[in-house]
This record gives sequence, structure tokens and C-alpha cells, in this order.
Amino acid sequence: MKMNELKLVYFSPTGTTRKVIMEAARSIDLKSVSHDFSVYKEKKPVLKFADNDFALFAAPVYGGRIPRLFTEYLENISGNHTPAAIIVTYGCRAYDDALLELKETVESHGFKVIGAAAFPVEHSLYPLAGARRPNKSDLKIIGEYGIELNRRIRKADSFDSFEIQVPGNSPYKKYSKNSLFPGVDVSLCTECKSCAKACPAGAISMKDPKKTDKKKCIGCMKCVRSCRQNARAANPLKLRPLEWYLKKKCQSDKKEEIFL
Ligand SMILES: Cc1cc2nc3c(=O)[nH]c(=O)nc-3n(C[C@H](O)[C@H](O)[C@H](O)COP(=O)(O)O)c2cc1C
Repeated sequence: MKMNELKLVYFSPTGTTRKVIMEAARSIDLKSVSHDFSVYKEKKPVLKFADNDFALFAAPVYGGRIPRLFTEYLENISGNHTPAAIIVTYGCRAYDDALLELKETVESHGFKVIGAAAFPVEHSLYPLAGARRPNKSDLKIIGEYGIELNRRIRKADSFDSFEIQVPGNSPYKKYSKNSLFPGVDVSLCTECKSCAKACPAGAISMKDPKKTDKKKCIGCMKCVRSCRQNARAANPLKLRPLEWYLKKKCQSDKKEEIFL
């Protein structure tokens, strides 16, 4: 089949998932278009992909699931028996049901999954876990995943015969409550609005960037990373116990898992 375009669809508040999807995409020999849903969009775009497009979906794992905000964007994306591959990145604890959830979600929207992968990376809440991953050897493996996907889309006339099995349970883990709303040190905040512009959930007021809508905040830490004054930080009373838990649970040397 003559393939048209590579469509990259991803969510990456702190940039790691973006790094991973771009590395995989580098090996795929098609013109690419990116849809980055970690940039807030008031109206969720409606996207329709053709049967000769190739879609690559990537998301970080939040509490063993795909971030709910990303699944809301996926609701408006449809394929037409479009071949697709999926990636989850996770902070060296576990990806639980996230890969299965991503697979079932895209398949229910008209995509045919021909490859899946879970890549351990640095944890955005506890950067000592998987520090500086993806490293050079991770990027090599991620690149090899891209090479295999490229080979598949070049060789196959039809994608019907691919049956990819991934770990996970359905019903999926319950969404955990987000208790990590980053607070603002008002003495440091200059109201530059970089946090409000960065927030993927539209949770920070443009008029008064010191205000965060706790119902909308997803605890992704993008505002903390974007604040040059260091005025934003996760509540230490909530973060400390989580860091203790992650210190015990995360294994920084977790291996990549690729399902083809
Ligand atoms: C709210 C939240 C929940 C997370 N939950 C998990 C998890 O369940 N398992 C895990 O191993 N890592 C978890 N992580 C770590 C992220 O999956 C990981 O850091 C990911 O690479 C972040 O992607 P990004 O840099 O593209 O935003 C979580 C991070 C955040 C912010």
C-alpha cells in the first residue's frame, strides 16, 4: 500500500514523551505532522485519518492509566482502518493498564494497532527514579522500534493480520485522585503568565496566574518547570510521602518492552 503521512499524536507536559516519540518517528520514512495535546486547546480538534496514513500515539502513564485529558482529545480522533502504533512512557514504577487502555481506546476509534511499546524514563514527580532517561542506549532501542514499524508499513499490503497483545487488565485501575496541585509563592511570582500559557489543562487563570483551578489541574508539573522565578512548586506535605513511596517502588534500571 502506498502510505501517505505519519501523524504523531501525543501528550507530553514535561517533554519526555515528546523526546521518545520523535526518536521513534525519525526512523519512519514518511512526511510527518504533529498533534501535541499538551498545548492547551479550548476546543478539542476533530481529526480524521485516512486508511493510508500511519498514526503514532504516545502518552505518559499517570497512576497506571492514560491521562484523562489525553483520552478526551482521543475521543475526537477517528481512523478508517488506519494502521497505528502506540507508546507509553512511565517513571520506572509501572505502567499497569495504560498500554492496554491506549490500545483499546485507539482501536475503538478505527485504528489497527501494529506495534506497542512501554518505555521507562525519568519520573517527572521524582526525578531520581530513572534519572536522565531516556539515555543513549534507551534512544537506540526506541529507534529500533521505529525501524521495525517502518519495515511493517513498507512491507504490508493489508494490516488485518496483525494481532498485538499487551499486558494490562480491564476494567482498568481506578483513576487516582490528584492531590499535587502546585502552589504559588506569591512573593516570587511576577505574574509573567508563563505558567498559565504552559498549563495543558487550562487550569491557571490568565488574568490572575496565582490562581489554579484545582478541579482542572492534573498535577503534571508543567507549570513548575515553566516558572523561571521558581514561584511554583508541588505542596511538600503531599510530595514528601509520595517521594518515599516512589523511592521504594521505582526501579531505575527497568527495561523497554516492545510488543510486535
Ligand atoms: C500525575 C503523575 C502520575 C504519574 N504516575 C506514574 C505511574 O503510575 N507510574 C510510573 O511509573 N510513572 C508515573 N508518572 C511518571 C510519568 O509517567 C513520567 O515521568 C513521564 O515520562 C512523564 O512524561 P512527560 O515528560 O512527557 O510529561 C507519573 C507522573 C505524574 C506527573
